[in-house]
Amino acid sequence: MTSQLIKKIVTGDEIRRAFLKFYSEKLHKIIPSASLIPDDPTVMLTIAGMLPFKPVFLGLKERPSKRATSSQKCIRTNDIENVGVTARHHTFFEMLGNFSFGDYFKREAIQWAWELVTNIYQLSVENIIVSVFHEDEESAKIWRDEIGIHPDRIVKLGEEDNFWSSGKTGPCGPCSELYYDFHPEKGLQDIDLEDGDRFIEFYNLVFMQYNRDPNGKLTDLKFKNIDTGMGLERMAQILQKKQNNYETDLIFPIIQKICEIANIDYFSSDDKNKISLKIIGDHTRAVIHLISDGVAASNLGRGYILRRLIRRMVRHGRLLGITNEFLPNIATVGINLMQNNYPDLKNNNDLILNEIKIEEIRFRETLERGEKLLDELISSGQKLISGFKAFELYDTYGFPLELTEEIAYENSISVDVKGFEEEMNAQKERAKAASSNIDLTLEGSLEREIDLFNKTVFNGYNSLLSEAEIKGIFMDSTLVKQASEGQKVLIVLDQTTFYGESGGQVGDIGTIFSKDVEVLVDNVIRKKKCFFTLWNDQKRNTNYWTKS
Ligand code: SER
Repeated sequence: MTSQLIKKIVTGDEIRRAFLKFYSEKLHKIIPSASLIPDDPTVMLTIAGMLPFKPVFLGLKERPSKRATSSQKCIRTNDIENVGVTARHHTFFEMLGNFSFGDYFKREAIQWAWELVTNIYQLSVENIIVSVFHEDEESAKIWRDEIGIHPDRIVKLGEEDNFWSSGKTGPCGPCSELYYDFHPEKGLQDIDLEDGDRFIEFYNLVFMQYNRDPNGKLTDLKFKNIDTGMGLERMAQILQKKQNNYETDLIFPIIQKICEIANIDYFSSDDKNKISLKIIGDHTRAVIHLISDGVAASNLGRGYILRRLIRRMVRHGRLLGITNEFLPNIATVGINLMQNNYPDLKNNNDLILNEIKIEEIRFRETLERGEKLLDELISSGQKLISGFKAFELYDTYGFPLELTEEIAYENSISVDVKGFEEEMNAQKERAKAASSNIDLTLEGSLEREIDLFNKTVFNGYNSLLSEAEIKGIFMDSTLVKQASEGQKVLIVLDQTTFYGESGGQVGDIGTIFSKDVEVLVDNVIRKKKCFFTLWNDQKRNTNYWTKS
């Protein structure tokens, strides 16, 4: 069959389907997307397609099949400031991946990736640049000698760019990335893959062969594995020939609905409005999936991420001139768009819309209280809103500075932005001083004290046994120096193998022992970055435990 007879793959659904079919024909088992709430205490959300397979890479779990392929929903919030600003950053995205668990390695991974992008997605060789880890001669050789890529198209990158791991510890390895070149006419001299107007990285092949321990030491994994990730939205941008990911069929219908509500046109909008439209489009997808996977808005952890995303949507809606409640309408478009691939969205439709509605109303009320204060300031005839007042609006009423500025501008008054920043810095200093001077014997709530501790290192993937230092003991939410027999307390350790209650999984039980003491661990919970080990020392004991 000639390539002219092959139907061109264009839509998001076609891209996803073609990827899974291609690898299924290479004997990969198709695995449905896992929840956004990972079964992994080292991360708050599922940030990559490989996350559900982490224990398999580490040799702690076996899978019935040595090859798998998936389209995994992911959320990353570390780049939230870039969402809507660059062409390709998202909070929510879908990652297409093929995985080998001790089966095939570099050669097949590279050959199949090439076959997929050139034969199935029909990208031209002249649009593809590949990168390899600078020490990985083997991959460079496969690209050059077996695939036949011109050496000028192979760029060597360092550890920062081409050595992938899902966090500071765990399975990792060198990687080789495929980039799309939107301007091949510029030639192959002085290639700068960081140039986002010219290149987009769309497929990452990770040669997962090491485990990194908390000290940064690399040891060989039991097997050599493959973990790859192709950004569905990025491939859609390429194949649909769009300026950015947001204009693809995966997100644009949501943006069109926002335009309809705001009564504006996307293509004739200025950059500022386009950014707001893109942010709402992006966040809608994240928010509906988070709620569908069981997250409720709150001030902690995942709940806070959800709250922050919803608030950003309301705020950007206001910047677009939308004053009425609009999020459930937008969410409905998002659910309709994605429910065929994610049926849970359909099943949880009412739950999602209800949570969004409540949270939107709540935030609007806060904003209204802030607006009232702002109105009073404006009607008092002042020509300048002081840094102190702007900060009060921000700190007490959740009123972002840009909103204060915007309303002030509409009323021809200005805001002391420098004063606002000084207030902000002063508050940061106060918070810092409060936490460094804190007396460990002071009574205080768990929530407040928790910031005193460093992150608990979780070793439970590699071992069931760990040495640890006690970093804090709490009794009735109060930090204490020691505890004795029969007392129920909660302790913070510097490292632990006990899994903390999360994502529907209960906390571990077990024993902690030292020379003189043996205690029973009833439960383990996680708060922010720390693992709290609850112990109820009713049965066995000798002395008492002391904070180290
Ligand atoms: N885990 C790698 C990534 O996220 C490849 O899937 O880029």
